[in-house]
Amino acid sequence: MRNYRHIEVRPIAGALGAEIAGVDMARDLDDEVVAEVRRAFLDHLVIFLRDQKVTPQQQVAFARRFGEPIEYPQLKGLPEAPMITPVVKLEHERHNFGGIWHSDTTYLPEPPMGSMLLAREVPPYGGDTMFANQYLAYEALSEGLRKTLEGLVGISSSTKADVTRTREDALKQAGAGATPKTLQAEHPLVRTHPETGRKALYTSDAHTACIKGWTEAESLPLLRFLWQHQVRPEFTCRFRWEVGSLAFWDNRCAMHNPINDYHGFRRVMHRITLAGDRPRV
Ligand code: SIN
Repeated sequence: MRNYRHIEVRPIAGALGAEIAGVDMARDLDDEVVAEVRRAFLDHLVIFLRDQKVTPQQQVAFARRFGEPIEYPQLKGLPEAPMITPVVKLEHERHNFGGIWHSDTTYLPEPPMGSMLLAREVPPYGGDTMFANQYLAYEALSEGLRKTLEGLVGISSSTKADVTRTREDALKQAGAGATPKTLQAEHPLVRTHPETGRKALYTSDAHTACIKGWTEAESLPLLRFLWQHQVRPEFTCRFRWEVGSLAFWDNRCAMHNPINDYHGFRRVMHRITLAGDRPRV
């Protein structure tokens, strides 16, 4: 276990995820504290803070210590803080935004490096979010399959049917009229993390449409195997939200999946997305 001077880091599962104590997002943090939080983020892939009492502006200021906030495609930000995207499920709604295993917006040429999600209103039960470690998923593959994946490129699309369904209520709330245009990008199925140098699987059922140069029929058997493999229980953790909880995940090596098991209750989250780079082999 790594030693920290300013923060306390408590892993919540064997695979990934740690709760951090000793950080108040509302305060102007010391560089040393920020460096330790970043170290914990790189080691644990997703970190959680509890009981944060912050205004939207303070949330944005905190996010800026770790990266560059960017707007989320297709959804409007808060009027008072446009870099914050509300992720809301209302009492009468059935779909939860992003309710499928995914890495965020891999259909962009430079997908985000990470996202920060702050819980503003939570249901009395349910609405947890699961995360999965894609370094472990990659490392658990046979040497033979790891060799096969070398050089393979996945084509991500923003309009696969299952993920499109999860956005329907959010787009209605945002008053979006026209059907969003299709966004597409090509990325290696295995990427090397630019900060840790580790290799991670980089595909998802939500966004990967096929393998470049392969037909869909040829691609799907291999992709479906990877999509099942990459979220095996031993690669995951599950986070129970409370008002004031913040999750900060590394989109380059972790996937996530919010559980849709709280129909009839409201869940309101404020999300900031941080700019990333082009995934490299
Ligand atoms: C998302 O994919 O950004 C939503 C995560 C969540 O609601 O827990």
